[in-house]
Amino acid sequence: MITKAILPVAGLGTRFLPASKSIPKEMVTVVDRPAIEYVVKEAVAAGIKQIILVTHSSKASIENYFDRNFELETSLENKKKYDLLAEIKNIVPSDVSIVSVRQPQPLGLGHAVLCAKDIVGGEDFAVLLPDVLVKDKTEHSDLAQMVERFKQTHAAQIMVEAVPDHLVNQYGIVDVAQSPAVGQSVKMKGIVEKPAIDQAPSNLSVIGRYVLPAKVMKILETTPKGAGNEIQLTDAIAQLQTEETVEAFRMQGQTFDCGSKLGYLKAVLHYGVSHPKLGADFQHMIKELQL
Ligand code: G1P
Repeated sequence: MITKAILPVAGLGTRFLPASKSIPKEMVTVVDRPAIEYVVKEAVAAGIKQIILVTHSSKASIENYFDRNFELETSLENKKKYDLLAEIKNIVPSDVSIVSVRQPQPLGLGHAVLCAKDIVGGEDFAVLLPDVLVKDKTEHSDLAQMVERFKQTHAAQIMVEAVPDHLVNQYGIVDVAQSPAVGQSVKMKGIVEKPAIDQAPSNLSVIGRYVLPAKVMKILETTPKGAGNEIQLTDAIAQLQTEETVEAFRMQGQTFDCGSKLGYLKAVLHYGVSHPKLGADFQHMIKELQL
């Protein structure tokens, strides 16, 4: 069973300045809620019961968002604003806990994941990178399918999608004998962090959703610094793949890189037009722009 998910949120968000100067980039609003809420809900929908935020001193507002706010609740209650009250009280179901641990130094994604080792406590786990939002196309989400596949095979699952050639040097890229069909997992032959295009084994990029065996924590303890002089999760997965089967799962949904300004705007558009209450009016506004 995969019940724990690590969400590394300690990064300073330089790609999102100036907004991220005093607001964590994960708290920037996509339509009517912070980006991180979509990622937490994606994890919860896949059966996760404990969210582990690996965070930084400047990011307390993320923890505050998922905590109760007694003063606000009392004020909404007194004003009989029961809909809003229910919404702010029920961001995550009551059987889901959100805990946090600090990443004391920015030593890379692999290091961030390792910071959660004691909380994960020897269990298999998921990792979700909150910069990327995944908008699922089916009820049965991509992450839920990965969790299921892991349960059946115990092979680590790495979510991938194809990217244009000029972007392969911005991602982890997987090596597979044959490109998986959408919604399918195939055995990986290798994985490399941010390769130059002439050295990339494919154009299948790691988008930031992983289901991993507990063993990865042990591997991370001895993973040396890699690309960008940081301890890379990709390198630990490459090591795991030499010891046991690791699979690349090709996603069906759509991704939005909210760490970048254009990716963020695209997310606002897509989540805006499909919003249950605001969607119709928002579509109308877009038509009125007559671009
Ligand atoms: C990280 C991972 C990379 C992955 C990417 C997805 O890189 O190291 O393998 O493809 O996230 O967004 P970062 O974007 O933190 O540099």
